[in-house]
Amino acid sequence: MRIVVLVSGTGSNLQSVIDAVASKQLADVEIAAVGADKHGTYGVERSEAAGIETFVVNFKDYEDRGEWNHALTQKCQSYQPDYVVSSGFMRIVGEEFINAFDGTYINTHPALLPSFPGAHGVRDALAYGVKVTGCTVHIADAGVDTGPILRQESVAVLDEDTEETLHERIKVVERRLLIATLGDLARNK
Ligand code: GRF
Repeated sequence: MRIVVLVSGTGSNLQSVIDAVASKQLADVEIAAVGADKHGTYGVERSEAAGIETFVVNFKDYEDRGEWNHALTQKCQSYQPDYVVSSGFMRIVGEEFINAFDGTYINTHPALLPSFPGAHGVRDALAYGVKVTGCTVHIADAGVDTGPILRQESVAVLDEDTEETLHERIKVVERRLLIATLGDLARNK
């Protein structure tokens, strides 16, 4: 099963997928490429260190979102992936992308959707005062963190938690859930 992974930042969740493929835990998964929406992400650096092809479709290089979305769609399609995986990719893709990867665009989110969607799911859950949050792996549709849910797991919020400590604990679960989901998809392909 060929995947393209999209990142915008650290790429620690991506690293867990790279490691799972290398260790044959995800024996049937091949990371065809890793892409980012801006230059200088550690996620791309990690990928290059692992010998994985990378690309950047730099959001700032395009006059408008539609042109960027078109370029990203074409670039991802050029790898003919079975799935595109957003792992800390912080851009909302447009209709053309969603249509091109209808039902095969996977996203991870650090909250129990539909609660706390958007770019600050961990901060919003903490601010709300929930005692339990978690993470979600879902098929992304044209909305923001919407679409059919594939896996979820809860993570307790501790009294002393900060956004950072809570997010790190969520990511540990998120990595495990993402790898399990990719394993499911590879088996059912
Ligand atoms: C993950 O929690 C992801 O769900 C969210 O941003 C975080 C990315 O972390 N959108 P990393 O870049 O994989 O370390």
